[in-house]
Amino acid sequence: MTYRARIIGTGSHLPDQIVTNADLTKKIDTTDEWIVERTGIRERRVAREGESTSVLAYQAAENALEAAGVTAQDIDLVIVATTTPDNTFPSTATKVQAMLGMDRGAAFDVQAVCSGFIYALSIADNFIRAGQAKTVVVIGAEVMTRLLDWSDRGTCVLFGDGAGAVVVQAQETDGDEPRGILSTHLHSDGKLRDLLYVDGGPGTNGEVGHLRMLGREVFRHAVTNLASVVTETLAANNYTQDDIDWLVPHQANKRILDGTARKLGLREDQVVVTVDRHANTSAASVPLALDEAVRDGRIQPGHLVLMEAMGGGLTWGAVLVRW
Ligand code: ACO
Repeated sequence: MTYRARIIGTGSHLPDQIVTNADLTKKIDTTDEWIVERTGIRERRVAREGESTSVLAYQAAENALEAAGVTAQDIDLVIVATTTPDNTFPSTATKVQAMLGMDRGAAFDVQAVCSGFIYALSIADNFIRAGQAKTVVVIGAEVMTRLLDWSDRGTCVLFGDGAGAVVVQAQETDGDEPRGILSTHLHSDGKLRDLLYVDGGPGTNGEVGHLRMLGREVFRHAVTNLASVVTETLAANNYTQDDIDWLVPHQANKRILDGTARKLGLREDQVVVTVDRHANTSAASVPLALDEAVRDGRIQPGHLVLMEAMGGGLTWGAVLVRW
C-alpha cells in the first residue's frame, strides 16, 4: 500500500466584469476578427478595483474546499501560484491562509508565471509523497490585466483575470491502476527569459512594470516544448497518446492548443478549452479549465487527465493524473 496525492475537489472564481473584443475596439486599434483569428479569444474577465489576487484566490479555494468536503482546519499547506501577488511581501498564500480562517499549517507562493499551477501541483505532490503534508490547497490566481500596457495592442488583448484551486490529499492506493497524481515533470530555460517578461520589479527599478513579449518566438517554443514534455510524461508512465482521456492545457492561444492536440492525435472534443471566454489567465488557466470540466461531468473517475503549461522564464511542465 502506498500513498498518492489525489485531487479530491476543484473550485474556481472569476470577476463578474466581462470585457469583449468589441469593448476593446473602443479603446485600442484592433478588431474582433483579428483577435479571434489569431488567438481564439472572444472575451475576458477583468477584476474591479479592490478585487485583488488574494480575493479571487480565496473564493476559488472556498469552492474547492466545499467540493472536497474538507474544512480549512484540515489543511496543512496552502500554495498560491501567481505572478501578480497582492504585495511584494508577504506572500499572497499567507493572506489566503488567514482569509480561510486557518490557525495552523504553512503557506507560500510559487512564481513560474503561466506554468505556476503545474509547478505548485508538483510541489504539493512531493510534499505528500515525502509525508510532510496530508492535505494541500493549490491555487492559481492572477490579475494579469494590471500588468498590461494598454498601448501595446499585441499583448493587451491576450490576458484576463481569475482563479482556480484544487484540494490535494494523501490517499492510500494499490492495484495496477492507482488513482491520483501519477507523475509531474518540470522544466525551465532561463536563457529565454527575454522572450516574455515584465519590465519592472522591486529588485530592479522599483516599479510594477508591464508585460513584454516576443509573440512569434513564444509561440514557436510553446508548441515544441509542450509536445516534448507531453511525450516525456507519457513515456514515464508507459502510456501512449491513445490512453489520454482529457487534455487540460494552459489556455494561452487556441492555435497553440490546436497545434498540441494535433501533435498528440487527440480529437478536438478531448481538449478542455476556455480561452475563448477567459483569455490567458496565466497560472489560473489550468485550474479554471479543470474545474469547468469536472463540474460539467466531462472528467469522470478513472479518466486519464493530462495537464500542461508553458510560460515566462521560459518555464514549462506537465502533470498526469488518474482521476
Ligand atoms: N489587433 C490588430 N492588429 C494587431 C494586433 C491587434 N490586437 N496586435 C498586433 N497586430 C498587428 C501587428 O501590428 C502586425 O501588423 P503589421 O504586419 O502591419 O506590422 C500584425 O498584426 C502581425 O503581428 P504579429 O505580432 O507578427 O502577429 P502574430 O501573427 O505573431 O500574432 C500573437 C500575435 C497572437 C501574440 C501570436 O504571436 C501568439 O499567439 N503568440 C503566442 C504568445 C502567447 O500566447 N503568449 C501568451 C503568454 S505565453 C504563454 O502563455 C504560453
